[in-house]
Amino acid sequence: MPTKVLMVCLGNICRSPLAEGVLQSKLPKNKCIVDSTGTANYHVGTAPDKRSIVTAKKFGIDISQQKCRQLSKSDFETFDFIYVMDTSNYKNVIAIAPNEASKQKVKLILNEVDSTSNLEVPDPYYGEMEDFEHVFHLLDEACTIIASKIHSK
Ligand code: 4NP
Repeated sequence: MPTKVLMVCLGNICRSPLAEGVLQSKLPKNKCIVDSTGTANYHVGTAPDKRSIVTAKKFGIDISQQKCRQLSKSDFETFDFIYVMDTSNYKNVIAIAPNEASKQKVKLILNEVDSTSNLEVPDPYYGEMEDFEHVFHLLDEACTIIASKIHSK
């Protein structure tokens, strides 16, 4: 059975679509199923932010076909690991987690890189292209570690 990983941010148009594309690019589908979602419903049904699409493309990853959706309670059953980008996402996700086992699945993604520092992937929505590229590199580093853990399972 493939490991199922859910990437979560606020809008599901900037950070989590990049995280989905980056992790997907590192593992075959028979090893890992990756999806992304947002805690908010502002952009449901739309493609990722153009700046995320362009940034991913620069590194050879196509995220243009993704569609924004909102986190639902059933996601806690479907997925094995739920990675959030910042502490605000963490609070929002924990608030709707149906039980303790669900809460245990939720982790700050950069804690894969440094498990004790609770670092955040900054929201680039009001930023510039270089902020999106910074986000890409942070996620690439974290996803390399996640992929190697899943690969060696
Ligand atoms: P994301 O960024 O959570 O990385 O997708 C945002 C996208 C949209 C908004 C906020 C953050 N918004 O307020 O519409």
